[in-house]
Amino acid sequence: MEPSPLELPADTLQRIASELRCHPTDERVALHLDEEDKLRHFREHFYIPKMQDLPPIDLSLVNKDEEAIYFSGNSLGLQPKMVKTYLEEELDKWAKMGVYGHSVGKRPWVIGDETISGLMSDIVGANEKEVALMNGLTVNLHLLLLYINLSFFKPTPKRYKILLEAKAFPSDHYAIESQLQLHGLNIEKSMRIIKPREGEDTLRLEDILEVIENEGDSIAVILFSGLHFYTGQLFNIPAITKAGQAKGCFVGFDLAHAVGNVELHLHDWGVDFACWCSYKYLNTGAGGLAGAFVHEKHAYTIKPALVGWFGHELSTRFEMDNKLQLIPGVNGFRISNPPILLVCSLHASLEIFKQATMKALRRKSILLTGYLEYMIKHYFSQDKAESKKTVVNIITPSYIEERGCQLTLTFSIPIKYVIQELEKRGVVCDKREPDGIRVAPVPLYNSFHDVYKFINLLTSVLGSVET
Ligand SMILES: Cc1ncc(COP(=O)(O)O)c(C=O)c1O
Repeated sequence: MEPSPLELPADTLQRIASELRCHPTDERVALHLDEEDKLRHFREHFYIPKMQDLPPIDLSLVNKDEEAIYFSGNSLGLQPKMVKTYLEEELDKWAKMGVYGHSVGKRPWVIGDETISGLMSDIVGANEKEVALMNGLTVNLHLLLLYINLSFFKPTPKRYKILLEAKAFPSDHYAIESQLQLHGLNIEKSMRIIKPREGEDTLRLEDILEVIENEGDSIAVILFSGLHFYTGQLFNIPAITKAGQAKGCFVGFDLAHAVGNVELHLHDWGVDFACWCSYKYLNTGAGGLAGAFVHEKHAYTIKPALVGWFGHELSTRFEMDNKLQLIPGVNGFRISNPPILLVCSLHASLEIFKQATMKALRRKSILLTGYLEYMIKHYFSQDKAESKKTVVNIITPSYIEERGCQLTLTFSIPIKYVIQELEKRGVVCDKREPDGIRVAPVPLYNSFHDVYKFINLLTSVLGSVET
């Protein structure tokens, strides 16, 4: 089954179907894909919610003991089973030895974050020293932009704008607004937002590059999401970085929906800075420990505006002489001591990623999402002969290199009913304003059969509207 890197998912499905002498939509294809999936055992590393425990479930429509169809890993990833063990290790250590826990054990608390930063840097394609694990995403974004003399957003009368995409995540939008306000800048003039063309849902790279080319001289920072939370569009990070830097801008990314979802090479792409949360594809639980990246080329030139004792070199940190020896690079941006209980869940999850590898996960993801796309198009695309049929449209780009695992669906009927009925049947996916349902099959724990079952349930939900 292994798709060759050159084979498109639809071709893989056709090939398997003809081997099995059936149609690609046949259940046997999904079962065969699961059988051949070398990553399928990773599902066992996670707790998959059961139907009976889901709040909106209708027990008359499902088997209560069955596992839910969980397609919300883009919002909150599932719990790795080892999280409890790792938490218990630290709770036990605390109970048994109190303060000595700072310096002993698998994760000495004082360097708890550093014990796993190598696992994290592999996932974002960075050197270990280019990554810090701290705070939440928006806090990290603020810290990276906050200017006194040496951080990324240094507006001048000539270069004062921040460029971002329309419908950026609200938290990023507010962070940028408040950063501009801190400098007394006019938000309308300084916040340069790029919108998709009229009638289109996603941004064209050529349009982004054109704005950079035409206005780059007045842009201080380009802050894009790596992968857009609503449309699921994966931006061309290296191309945007290259174009922005050629114009003298700093280029940073919010990788909330990209990390653990697509392969990243932040160091090689020369990205200036990035930040991400860990509770989506990195499965750390709500409010999990976030990450930040500053390219090593800035290690001695970009410095934090706000400093705390964990930005001080470890070798002299506890001399308490109040003479700051700032750690070069992103680790100098750490302010407080690391929250060890949050380190535990990230540790448990990152170990799974190390075993699975991003390369293999992405490969499966392309086929898994390609299968979902194929099935949606087959069953729910516009069909002129049947004018009463509900149409499902995919607004996420169809090019593999322009998306991760998420597809955002819009419907020719109001989605409130669709989502309610899916939830009653144990499908966990989410509704996002204005009118999208986001569906994210995650290669670590979702199966091809999950997709197959989802399509069957969607068929019956939409069928009930049509009748
Ligand atoms: C794209 C994006 N940016 C920022 C955030 C905010 O993250 P945090 O609450 O960790 O600051 C989220 C949260 O879901 C997000 O999806």
